[in-house]
Amino acid sequence: MKTIKDLLSEVEHIFKEEQFVFEPKELYEPIDYTLRLGGKKIRPTLLLAANQLFDGDPDLVRDAALGIETFHNFTLLHDDLMDRSPIRRGQPTVYCKWNENTAILSGDTMFALAWRYFLRKPTPNLHQILQCFDQTAIEVCEGQQYDMNFEKKALNDVSLSEYMEMIRQKTAVLLAAALKIGALYANASEEDVDKIYNFGIHLGLAFQIQDDLLDGYGDTAVFGKKTGQDIRDNKKSYLPLCALKICNQIQAQKLCTLFDYNNRIDEEEKVACTLSLYEEIGLRRHVEEAIKQQFIQAQQELDNIEANPTSKKPFQELMEMLFERKK
Ligand code: IPE
Ligand code: IPE
Ligand code: MG
Ligand code: MG
Ligand code: MG
Repeated sequence: MKTIKDLLSEVEHIFKEEQFVFEPKELYEPIDYTLRLGGKKIRPTLLLAANQLFDGDPDLVRDAALGIETFHNFTLLHDDLMDRSPIRRGQPTVYCKWNENTAILSGDTMFALAWRYFLRKPTPNLHQILQCFDQTAIEVCEGQQYDMNFEKKALNDVSLSEYMEMIRQKTAVLLAAALKIGALYANASEEDVDKIYNFGIHLGLAFQIQDDLLDGYGDTAVFGKKTGQDIRDNKKSYLPLCALKICNQIQAQKLCTLFDYNNRIDEEEKVACTLSLYEEIGLRRHVEEAIKQQFIQAQQELDNIEANPTSKKPFQELMEMLFERKK
């Protein structure tokens, strides 16, 4: 039985062995840059761990691990352009280091490459695996569109349940799909596939609320992304939505003005004002509590799966790692 550390280093090894630079190099170098920049590689690790949980053949899922991570990185190239984010994994984002067209075209290529990785090895469940991948890709785009729609909406016009649905789509379904695909390669039962998917949804919801938290409270040098970007972008992230629930009327009015798309105040002043309001109302512990609740629900879903407890251990270890994460 491999530990989470074994699985993470296996994923690193798979990426190390793969070549990403071809001609024209202007197209492929940004792809190689992105895929070699590191990143936590959570999704391919989840895929391998689910495959192991249901006794799958590890050699069969190598390419799927490449596929899921390449797709994730494609979404990042486009997301950074959409969010105007200058830094990722401590380095300049592709659209900043090269240009916007490069982020679009190299990103598109990565989406197509992801399909190619999945198609590389024939497997009996391939149709179902690709159906899951396709459905997931569309949902991620739908989630991304809601995320952008919400930028232009007033803060008090986006509900927490609309937010939860938006992050389920933009983030959680991909973690869930990674697990589901790993289980499908192992021929897990339909029931087990559904259970591991639901585990991934709660893990993914926790993961995105944490990402929102780190945008406000993280350290750029550790987080690898420029903090406060969600505030600059008027993102209706968990932070302002939760803040609105717990603050008084005067603070609520201030918050709505700060997150108003049409209010063109100085960006850095906006970040400072927002963070000091968060401090004033003690927002942080409320957000941490919401994250904890999602982890608890994820744990319950994991407990529902009938499998050898030792084979669930990597998931336990991963949840502990993620719970503490600072990047
Ligand atoms: C970033 O994902 C995008 C979100 C869904 C928050 P990760 O935090 O997994 O990014 P990397 O791949 O580790 O850099
Ligand atoms: C991530 O949302 C969702 C996708 C990339 C699909 P964010 O916009 O919050 O991710 P980061 O913070 O830029 O990594
Ligand atoms: Mg972003
Ligand atoms: Mg985004
Ligand atoms: Mg974010």
